[in-house]
Amino acid sequence: MSTISAPGTDVPPAEVPDYPMTRAAGCPFDPPPALHTLQAEAPISRVRLWDGTTPWLVTRYEDVRALLADPRIGSDSTHPHYPHQSPAAKERRRQSRTFITMDDPEHARLRRMVTAAFSIKHVEALRPAIQKIVDDLIDAMLAGPGPVDLVQAFALPVPSLVICALLGVPYADHDFFQTNSRILVRSTTTPEQARAATQLLLDYLDRLIGDKLTHPTDDLLSTLAEWVRAGELSRREAASMGMLLLIAGHETTANMIALGTLALLQHPDQLARVSASDDPKSIASAVEELLRYLTIVHSGRRRVAREDIGIGGVTIRAGEGVVLANDIGNRDPAAFPDPDRLDVDRNPRHHVAFGFGVHQCLGQPLARVELQVVYSTLYRRIPTLRLAVGLDQIPFKHDGTVYGVYELPVTW
Ligand code: HEM
Repeated sequence: MSTISAPGTDVPPAEVPDYPMTRAAGCPFDPPPALHTLQAEAPISRVRLWDGTTPWLVTRYEDVRALLADPRIGSDSTHPHYPHQSPAAKERRRQSRTFITMDDPEHARLRRMVTAAFSIKHVEALRPAIQKIVDDLIDAMLAGPGPVDLVQAFALPVPSLVICALLGVPYADHDFFQTNSRILVRSTTTPEQARAATQLLLDYLDRLIGDKLTHPTDDLLSTLAEWVRAGELSRREAASMGMLLLIAGHETTANMIALGTLALLQHPDQLARVSASDDPKSIASAVEELLRYLTIVHSGRRRVAREDIGIGGVTIRAGEGVVLANDIGNRDPAAFPDPDRLDVDRNPRHHVAFGFGVHQCLGQPLARVELQVVYSTLYRRIPTLRLAVGLDQIPFKHDGTVYGVYELPVTW
């Protein structure tokens, strides 16, 4: 067993519990019960990660939010005590580092290069095109026989088609990029597998950016190519940013579509409220509640303290790793009354499913519009939508840094 490597602690390694990541059998929508216990009894305490390191785990909503907004805490993944999520995540960050694991001012400089494409104004203009994508996929599903796997037939294609159009990536290559993304978000992937998948994606995006340098089009990879031409970005940095946007742009939203549908099918009273509503505000609110309830980016926001920080009776020393557990933060009764109940009529807009602070999700306006279109269309157009297998036969992504389902067999 390895020794504690973080500075400033005298806690013997044997007394530090493993970071509880696995959800209890039969409760696929709820964070692990051990996280509830920690939140109630030891809201800022040490946990052991896969590599034997023992960063702080923060579980209360107020503390998670306060620390995510605290400039004394950073996201620099090159720091020796950065608490990596898995061997694969560590390898990917080493090979392809971009602004999600950088601190300001570099983080802000790079993020600014792509923010316009994700502004509310720009994303709202895409709503009719997103509606058409959703309608066409439902038409295709209804034209064929059931049951179908909703993940392959609908949940993955919706955000993949959207992010491909936005970036200027050919959708015809979706098998290639979806397969390699999946390798990278699986916590059981070996460093060698992660290295190979990262290299394939970087080479692919580099080729596309090369094409955009000579034949620019109206898309985000062409914008990145412009920054390369202006000498503000290297080809490698541009490919890394393209890779981040391609992966984040489809993997997360796809899981929210499939897992959100499953959660609603398991809560028929809530599903009835969503499918009966034609009020965009109610649909938007239901989306926020599903984001809170499911918190699919569930493996904690990873940080390193840059200065000593006193919080909740403990001192996090400069240089120590910190994991901010936004999944259990979103189930904190102090922030959300009766937090384990899915209630599409509550207004939980203050949730931290998209993170908080300077690294708060860049793509959230896009994810919101996609989910609003999906949730307001799918159950209205297929009112008899139901599971084609028992809940116990659904393969959940217990091994993923993003939570969801691998398959969702449905019929109607
Ligand atoms: C339901 C869907 C989504 C969820 C739940 C989600 C969640 C998150 C979370 C929790 C973070 C914070 C990371 C941190 O603090 O370390 C984040 C950051 C980010 N997300 Fe998303 N995301 C979603 C969709 C998207 C989409 C569609 C894109 C589009 C490309 C995207 C791009 C990004 C980027 C680029 C960052 C890094 C921001 C920064 O470091 O400044 N996300 N996301």
